[in-house]
Amino acid sequence: MGQGVLVTGAFGQIGSELVSALQQKHGKEHVVALGHHNVDSSYDGIVEIGEISDKEKLESIIQKYDVGTIYHLVSILSARGEQDPQLTWNVNMDGLKFVLDLAVKYKIKVFWPSSIAAFGPTTPRDNTPQHTILEPTTMYGVTKASGELLCQYYRLKYGLDVRSVRYPGLISWKAEPGGGTTDYAVAIFYGAIQEGKYTCFVKEDTVLPMMYMDDAIRGTIQLMDAPAESLQVTTSYNLAAISFSAQELAQEIQKRMALEVSYVPDHRQKIADSWPQRIDDSVARSEWGWSHEFDLSKMVDVMLEKLHAKLQK
Ligand code: SER
Repeated sequence: MGQGVLVTGAFGQIGSELVSALQQKHGKEHVVALGHHNVDSSYDGIVEIGEISDKEKLESIIQKYDVGTIYHLVSILSARGEQDPQLTWNVNMDGLKFVLDLAVKYKIKVFWPSSIAAFGPTTPRDNTPQHTILEPTTMYGVTKASGELLCQYYRLKYGLDVRSVRYPGLISWKAEPGGGTTDYAVAIFYGAIQEGKYTCFVKEDTVLPMMYMDDAIRGTIQLMDAPAESLQVTTSYNLAAISFSAQELAQEIQKRMALEVSYVPDHRQKIADSWPQRIDDSVARSEWGWSHEFDLSKMVDVMLEKLHAKLQK
């Protein structure tokens, strides 16, 4: 297997943190960050600039760096996806298919993120089982549910080693999310620190599954390191950490600083209401040893500390 590790969407919310973890694990000389308009100029490592729709470019990168593993993160998220469903389909699905085809050709191991958005209003919302109804109502969710099936198809048909998790909303301080429904759980920290107030675009009793980014990165690498024979799920693993309402998050911040919150739900409320509130991730826990470290209080502590330091610079 090639030693190169390629990360697409390397400068997005997850990529920004996954890339440095992978550099530590594999060495800077083996990690290739593929980005486009949002490349971080201070990034210290190998960078390639290109669109995910450029299959030739992708293939030349694979050859150039002897890529044996791809973390394919490029994706348009749920709220932005509703503004341009066609583009969302193209980026999310065509991009995934290119990656899977090249992975078969070059015998590459693949990580691809699914999401709680693969679920829909007909899915049980509490303690959502690993195997359940996937009838999403956003284009983003449609690409996640379809992507799961496409990955499974490549695994069964071509024996491709492709691994996947259904991430909950991810909370991080380094790079901001963009165009997602769970973005309020990050934006509220910026509001608190910069203005002492925040207008939340979902209702106070909106509960969604969430996770601090460090847990997500650790879990991702743990899944990729797990022995193939221990993995029985052929689509995507439920992955959970903490669930809280928007108001519970606000109150946790208010225990530490002054923060005024108002709730003005917009079009994203409907998306949030179509997703589960709590996910059962016991299969991930038993098959490959997943466990989270950050509860609500620990997450809020670290977010406030890191974000304060970042915004003071
Ligand atoms: N965080 C994503 C979104 O809100 C869900 O995967 O779109």
